[in-house]
Amino acid sequence: MYEEEKKLAAMEALKYVHSGMKIGLGTGSTTKYFLEGLGEMVESGKISDITGVPTSIRTEELARSHGINTVNNMEGIEIDFDGADEFDPAGNLVKGGGGALVREKIVAYNSRDVYIMADHSKFSQRLHNFPLPVEVLPFMEESTRRNIERIGCTSIFRDGKKFRSDNGNYIIDCKFEYTDPDLESRIKMIPGVVEVGIFRGIATRIFMGNGENCRIMDFKKS
Ligand code: 5RP
Repeated sequence: MYEEEKKLAAMEALKYVHSGMKIGLGTGSTTKYFLEGLGEMVESGKISDITGVPTSIRTEELARSHGINTVNNMEGIEIDFDGADEFDPAGNLVKGGGGALVREKIVAYNSRDVYIMADHSKFSQRLHNFPLPVEVLPFMEESTRRNIERIGCTSIFRDGKKFRSDNGNYIIDCKFEYTDPDLESRIKMIPGVVEVGIFRGIATRIFMGNGENCRIMDFKKS
């Protein structure tokens, strides 16, 4: 859905990539457009010497297939380019629809800037549309799920536990009436929780495809 808007956002974000940069590479269909565009720029010789820090195994494979060099060293990442499942006017994000939230948050946290690319359907006044992904250890995971539900949500294991993250963990999708960004620390304190898909105060710029235009929103990293 909204493929043209995703492409538009990715193409706009690509304008900020220059030769010699070290960048974070997110996960998902919008990032895929970004990687395809980046690959074309590298292949045509328009830019060179790009190093990418991938947030998932599939992004790593995709980047390499486009001739982009990848490393897992977090030092000196200038801009992280990633997608989002939902975002609000303050730039808070819900991420993890692709199950890559742990690595996505580590890379985002270690980047000077975080540029998010999305279509307009991801924008909400209050985060409530997308069930919040929470990654949990595969140990007493049913208890962990019940403990998360006590905070005030209903939840299910992604694909009935068939889905495992790149880290070998389960993802629980949690449906809150409103995903208050303050919930991040409360959920993270529950034993067994590895990471929560709330990205608060991390995005510095959001590119939102909107019809035939791309709207750019700027935020300060807190
Ligand atoms: C993966 C993510 C993605 O960024 C998010 O799911 C958005 O994906 P898409 O660009 O396919 O809509 O958080 O874990």
